[in-house]
Amino acid sequence: LTVQADKPLHAVSPMLYGLMTEEINYSYDGGLYAEMVRNRTFEKNWMGIQYWMLDNAGDSHASLKWDDSTGPSEAVGSSVAVTVDAADAAHPAGLRNDGWWGMALQPNTTYTGSFYAKGDSLDTVGVSLVHNGSGKTVASTTVSAINGDWKQYTFTLKTGDVKASKDNHLLLTFPKAGKVSLSLVSLFPPTYKGRANGNRTDLMEMMAGLHPKFLRMPGGNYLEGDQIDQRFDWKTTIGPIADRPTHRGPWSYQSSDGLGLLEFLEWTEDLKIEPVLAVYAGYSLKGDFVHAGPAMQPFVDDALDEIEFVIGDTSTKWGAVRAKLGHPAPFPLHYVEVGNEDDLDHSGSYETRFPQFNTAIKKKYPQLQVIATAHVKRGQPDVIDDHYYKRAEDFYAMVDRYDNMPRTGAKIFVGEWATREGFPTTDMGAALGDAAWMTGMERNSDLIVMSAYAPMLVNVNPGGMQWESNLIGYDAATSYGSPSYYAQSIFAEFLGTDVPTSAITGANKRFFYSVTRDASKLYLKVVNASTEPQALDVKIDGATIAGEATLTTLHANNRADTNTLTDPKHIVPVTSKLRAAAATHRTVPPLTIEVITLPLK
Ligand code: AHR
Repeated sequence: LTVQADKPLHAVSPMLYGLMTEEINYSYDGGLYAEMVRNRTFEKNWMGIQYWMLDNAGDSHASLKWDDSTGPSEAVGSSVAVTVDAADAAHPAGLRNDGWWGMALQPNTTYTGSFYAKGDSLDTVGVSLVHNGSGKTVASTTVSAINGDWKQYTFTLKTGDVKASKDNHLLLTFPKAGKVSLSLVSLFPPTYKGRANGNRTDLMEMMAGLHPKFLRMPGGNYLEGDQIDQRFDWKTTIGPIADRPTHRGPWSYQSSDGLGLLEFLEWTEDLKIEPVLAVYAGYSLKGDFVHAGPAMQPFVDDALDEIEFVIGDTSTKWGAVRAKLGHPAPFPLHYVEVGNEDDLDHSGSYETRFPQFNTAIKKKYPQLQVIATAHVKRGQPDVIDDHYYKRAEDFYAMVDRYDNMPRTGAKIFVGEWATREGFPTTDMGAALGDAAWMTGMERNSDLIVMSAYAPMLVNVNPGGMQWESNLIGYDAATSYGSPSYYAQSIFAEFLGTDVPTSAITGANKRFFYSVTRDASKLYLKVVNASTEPQALDVKIDGATIAGEATLTTLHANNRADTNTLTDPKHIVPVTSKLRAAAATHRTVPPLTIEVITLPLK
């Protein structure tokens, strides 16, 4: 391998690696969004009120009735009426919620909760956290003086010196006969950076470990919904949670919308990254679409309002709303995406829908780059979003896909890509496919301005996964990264600012590489996806190696080797120091991804 270090071909896009996820695989509810109560608004389906059950002590007796005649707000217009026929303080009636496959509790920790209630003849509700196996109460409190019309009642639950466990449930108890109506029962652990209505700390830290530069939000199919009225309707996802009606997502479950537009933006702020905002473009997954022209104008206006919510100052209508919700400062925004995978709209309507959005966005916000989700003939997008879900062999065969593409038209955003091998999270074979593909993206990072692996998150409990092959797995308590996670993490961490000229001869067919550099270091990434070792001799011209090299290695003995919840660190990067000569004349083991960092002078 020869590298002409003083001859840069082009700059590396500073936004190359980012994040993409959506409400799939219980990514938000039951995942990143730290709410511990499942179905907090007592939504009902044909089986009844899901995830809540009566848990009466002794001879106490109560019944539940879903009631759509009263609720805490216009948005949440239903509730559950609890009627207790028989109970006393020693044998209360009870209503239990098991959370998202458990409720994770830590010792000596305060959990913050609330519920909305309409008082009737029952004015006291006990709240406790109970260990499933032993039935022991881990923390408890009482909310009393419940009376009058709908009000929010808050409480805290503090655990003592207990063992950390996810095998717990929330129990509401009713110590005497009577009636009370309840809705929006909520409980949060401490969240990332202490945000109210915030995110799980471990998952935010996992994302930070990917060294991302942006978040593509809010989806994916989740942006579009199955039907037009099931789209991500951002205006119904802001403000107090009682003002959010919830909606049906396309991945077969209800979204609480607790993680709404402002929470997405705060998520980017907390990770110090930029949002890449996808706006709904009048097409939903089951094929319904809005015709371009006057019928589309309300959707275009809605997108302009949404952009104003993100970047408008407080003198603007939606900037002022954002300020009122606690965030006066605008968020940084450079890219707006119009729709999602509109090449699946076989009516061809995107050819007219896209230009209508593009023209309106550019007119009001000429500084923004507009991304199209299909290769449109009209409207001149700044960027096109290409998606690739492949097997490793496919990625090996298409690593050079962008090498000879014209550099004169739109830039490329690889807005969803993944090697789909292994489930619920991917294995080492997938990581090798991913790494090979990333070498091609880095080499073409003058054309490819951004890329994002998808989907990122999966709740690994049975029933948690709608999409096989994901990057980060978790249950209620812990999380782990797949080998693909670590491949991406080291690729994004060790990335220079320029791509120097380089060439390779004599390597096996499954050997791939990328070279980038900055002012003081050269980053050489090599991927040996074959089962044979590969000799590597590196000759660097135009720069001198100025000291010890650092070698970061991700390796497994078999392609199927992987990480799991119970063995989360089976395959992780290992770092060592090498003399320069050893770093540039070495044998790369089979099934191995390496980053060799060489200091330059
Ligand atoms: O990432 C999963 C899905 O794949 C996305 O929702 C969609 O955009 C794509 O088809």
